[in-house]
Order: sequence, then C-alpha cells, then structure tokens
Amino acid sequence: RAAATYEAEAAQVAKGKVESNHAGHTGTGFVNFDAVSDAYVEFTVRAEQPGATKLDFRYANGTSVDRPLDITVNGTQAADDLSFPGTGAWTTWKTASVTTALVAGTNRIRATTSGVDGPNLDSLIVTPQGPADTEKP
Ligand code: GCU
Repeated sequence: RAAATYEAEAAQVAKGKVESNHAGHTGTGFVNFDAVSDAYVEFTVRAEQPGATKLDFRYANGTSVDRPLDITVNGTQAADDLSFPGTGAWTTWKTASVTTALVAGTNRIRATTSGVDGPNLDSLIVTPQGPADTEKP
C-alpha cells in the first residue's frame, strides 16, 4: 500500500530548529534537535485504516555516536530509544525504522530526544503494512 511522506519542518517542533544547511534533505529543510532533553517533533498522520504501519524516520547524524529518540503514537510508546546511529556525514541521510499499530483517523507520532542531543530529522515516511488494495476481496 502507498507510502506517504511527512516533512519534519512542517510538523510541530518543540525545542528544535528548522534548518537547511546540509544538502540532501527533502522538502525545504530538516529539524536540528538542540542539546536539550525533551525536544520533539510531532507529526500528525491520518490513517484510513487501523493496523500495522512502518514508520521510517529519515535523518542524518554526522557523528559516530548514536542519537536515540523515543517514539510515541498518541502518547503510547512505540519504541524506547530507537537507534539513530552515525550516517558518516551530515549530508548523508538514512532511515531508522519501527513498525507499530496506527488507529484509523488521527495519529500523533512524536519523536523525542532521550539523551542530550538528537539527529537532524528530515522526514517521516509512513507505509501501511496491510495487504495490497488489489488483494482485497
Ligand atoms: C553540527 C551540524 C548540525 C548538527 C550538530 C549536532 O553543528 O552542522 O547540523 O545538528 O552538529 O551535533 O547536532
């Protein structure tokens, strides 16, 4: 089923800065988490159907140190310390993924710093894991 992309710079941002100084991001920029705890980006995602959904967080981490984020959906933990390992450069973007259940309707998907700093977060790619539409009866 079709994937949808949500840009971090268009999401709700707390204690993070929208920047665009590293090439390769999609949209108009990315969110640079500051070195403070409880910084977050919250994406509002509408799902047509409930069920297992793959969340791919596109990010860069130019250091060699993991910058984990806690992921919640509507306030419920989906991943504790999801790993965002070094990507080799601030211009090299990779994805960190978790598969979790979404509800039909509005889902508030929040990525929060759990340590002192987070990666540069570009976007969230949401891919429902249900059977393809063509396979439905
Ligand atoms: C560098 C880089 C930033 C990044 C920061 C960090 O300053 O240019 O984009 O966010 O390192 O370590 O978080």
